[in-house]
This record gives sequence, structure tokens and C-alpha cells, in this order.
Amino acid sequence: MSGLSVKHLLGIKYITKEDIELIFQTADNFKQVINRPIKKVPSLRDITIANLFFENSTRTKLSFELAEKRLSADVINFSASGSSVKKGETLLDTVSNILAMKVDMVVMRHPLPGAGQFLSKNIDAVIVNAGDGTHEHPTQGLLDAYSIREKYGEVAGKKVVIVGDILHSRVALSNIFALQKLGAEVKVCGPATLIPKHVETLGVTYEPNLIKALQWCDVANMLRIQMERQDVQYFPSLREYTLQYGLNKQILDSLDKEITVMHPGPINRGVEITSDVADSSQAIILPQVENGVAVRMAVLYLLAGKIE
Ligand code: CP
Repeated sequence: MSGLSVKHLLGIKYITKEDIELIFQTADNFKQVINRPIKKVPSLRDITIANLFFENSTRTKLSFELAEKRLSADVINFSASGSSVKKGETLLDTVSNILAMKVDMVVMRHPLPGAGQFLSKNIDAVIVNAGDGTHEHPTQGLLDAYSIREKYGEVAGKKVVIVGDILHSRVALSNIFALQKLGAEVKVCGPATLIPKHVETLGVTYEPNLIKALQWCDVANMLRIQMERQDVQYFPSLREYTLQYGLNKQILDSLDKEITVMHPGPINRGVEITSDVADSSQAIILPQVENGVAVRMAVLYLLAGKIE
């Protein structure tokens, strides 16, 4: 394999199985690096990366920044709050001004689906989508699949259920694309109102019953209810959601087999998952975060080869 098939990482939909495998092999090497006493390599010296966050983030923002610094890139950070976006500056003008400062790569989170695609057609820098509205969150999909590979040795043949607000979730879509490209079987589970119409066209099946879904799976990825993206009420109350779709220790212990529990964060403890599950040995939530740095280092390193 000579390199990635794409110049930008806009979504898992647009990359190949071979791209994902190359990212994982590269991440394996970087995972060793970040666990060494000296955690830094000179791979991206003289490369300048702008992290543009037009929407809130804790994990993704810090993880990208750490990945960039571990690779010795020069890093500038931009948050929409406190910027001239508030004065009416357009996305293209904001990014063009930042690029005039000789930036090579842009990592961008934006509330509008397709914001990354728009930029990639209008500017020369390499674009990495750090989450665009309800569309995709490709590095989250990659780090989730990488964490399943780490746990089980391979993703192919694994049964993964994604539980919760599938309708508004960019994490769900990127997970579905990544897992299927790697040969996993995927189900979605949650209230029917939070499942996209025609979800089966994505190659997944819908299981409305949480217990049945959990009995079936090897891995349960528990998603947060995206209240900030819900324009109408999709279920009677959070309490009722938790009663039907919340994962607690009693349910986990009642299953025939030991499943793995994932969560992309931020967790709403006591809503989609209880603390005793989130903090249990079956949960790999913090290893997901650790893997996020190695996976993002791999993505940035491989895409740096595409800078013109
Ligand atoms: N998983 C995730 O995207 O978390 P943040 O919103 O904190 O970046």
C-alpha cells in the first residue's frame, strides 16, 4: 500500500477498507510512541495545522491538538466563540484568512453537514472533518473500530449494536461505514422516532428491544441523546428513555455472555448508561480516548503526504 486514496478525510463513506487498514497499522506504531517516555516524533516538523472549532468539543479538540504536538507540528487553535464569526464573517472568509497565514492542514468541527466538503472545494489545504453536524465524525468512527480491533484482534465477524439517538448522530454514521467496510455486522437500537427512515439502506438492521439487541451483540456502543439537535420531542421524557434504553449493571450481568461496552462521550451518566457500567471492566471508554490520539496521529501523518 502506498498511501491513502484521498487528499482529505471528510467521512468514512469516502475512504476504502485499505485506507482504514493503513490508518490502523500506522496507529499501531504511534500507539507505541505515545506510551514511551519520550512521546514525540519529528514527523510533521514544519507543517502548520489549524484546529477550527465552530462547535463545542472536549475529547476531539484536545486529542487532535495532542496528536499534532506529538508529531511536532506547529498548531494554531480557533474557537468560534470570541472570534469575528460573531461579527458576521463567513466560513470561507474565516478560513481564507487563517490560510493566508500559511497553514497546511485544517481540522474542522462545524454544526453544518457538508462544511468540510464545501471547504475542500474552495481552498488548497488538506481538510480533516472533526464532526460536521449530523453527517460524519470520521476519526471517532476510526477510533471506535480500532478499539474493537484492539479488544478482539479483528473487526470482521463481530456483532456491534449502536444504541440511542441514531437520527442525529454523526458518530453512528461513521461507525456504520467503518464497521461494515471492515466486515462487522451492525444493528441499531433505540426509539423508532430516533432511527432514520430507510436505515436498512445502510445495510444495518433495526432492533427496537434493548435486551434482544444486547443478547445478540459482542459490542454495544451507547450513544448520547443529542438534545441540542432535537427540534421536536422524540420521546416522552428522559426518564422513560432510560427505562427502555438505558444500560445498567443489572441488565449487563443478566446477559448470557460478557459484552464490551463503548461510548464516544460525553456521557450522560444515569441516562444512556449508569456509572457502574461506565466504570466497569467491560467498558472500554477510556481506552477509546487513548486510541483516539494514536488514530488521529496516523490520519494527520498519512494526510500530510498529500500537502501540495
Ligand atoms: N466524542 C466526541 O466527539 O466528543 P467531543 O464532542 O467532546 O469532542
